[in-house]
Amino acid sequence: MRELTIAIDGPASSGKGTVARRVAESLGYAYVDTGAMYRAVGLHTLRAGADPTDPVATTGIAGSLHFGFDWHKGQLRIIVDREDVTTAIRNERVGGAASAVAVHPGVRSALLQTQRDLGAGGGVVMDGRDIGTVVLPDADLKIFLDAALEERARRRHAELPGSVLDEVRGELAARDAQDSGRRTAPLRQAEDAVRVDTTGHTIDEVVERVLGLVHERRGR
Ligand code: DC
Repeated sequence: MRELTIAIDGPASSGKGTVARRVAESLGYAYVDTGAMYRAVGLHTLRAGADPTDPVATTGIAGSLHFGFDWHKGQLRIIVDREDVTTAIRNERVGGAASAVAVHPGVRSALLQTQRDLGAGGGVVMDGRDIGTVVLPDADLKIFLDAALEERARRRHAELPGSVLDEVRGELAARDAQDSGRRTAPLRQAEDAVRVDTTGHTIDEVVERVLGLVHERRGR
C-alpha cells in the first residue's frame, strides 16, 4: 500500500503531538515533531545567553545545529549535536523562547530543508504550525487540530503541577497571538486541510477520526 505524507498543524496544547505520535505508531510511520526543532533553537539561544528576539544571533544558532530523531523504547528522542535534549526542551521557558525565535524568517529557512528531507518519501506524520501550508504543501492528508482556549488551558494546567490556571491561559493566548500573527509562515489552516475540533473529545476519539481520514485517502 502507498505510504502517505500526513501534515498535522494546530495551536499549542491542541493535542497534536500526542495525536500525531499515536497515528504514526498505528500506521508504522515515522513521526517528526517540528516544534521540538524550534524548541532546540530556543534552548541553545538561552544557553548562549543570546536574545530570542535577535534575528541575526538566532539564525546563526539555527543554522549551526544538527538534528536527529531517534525512537527509544517507544519514545521519540530529539538529538541535537549528539545531545539528547528531549527533556530539556519541555518547559515553558524554552517554549516561549521557541515561539520567539520562530518569528524570524532566517531561523525558519534554516530548519525548512531538514524538515522537507524528513518528509520526503512518505510514510511520515509531521506536526507543527506551517506543515500543511509551507513545509509539505503537497502532503496527502492535512489535518488542522484545534480546541477552545479554555480547554487547552485546562489540559496544560493539568500537565504542569503547581501552575495557576489563569497564568497558563494567559501564556497560551500570548503564544497563539505570536504564532498566528507573525509574517512568515504563521499558524493557519491550509485551504485543503480537514479541521478537527478536539474540544470535548478524548485523544482516542481524535486518533480514530484521523485514522478514518487516512483510510479514506488510501482508498482513493
Ligand atoms: O508545538 P510546540 O509547542 O512544541 O512548538 C513550539 C513553538 O515552535 C511554537 O510556539 C511555534 C514554533 N513552531 C513553529 O513556528 N512552526 C512549527 N512548524 C512548529 C513550531
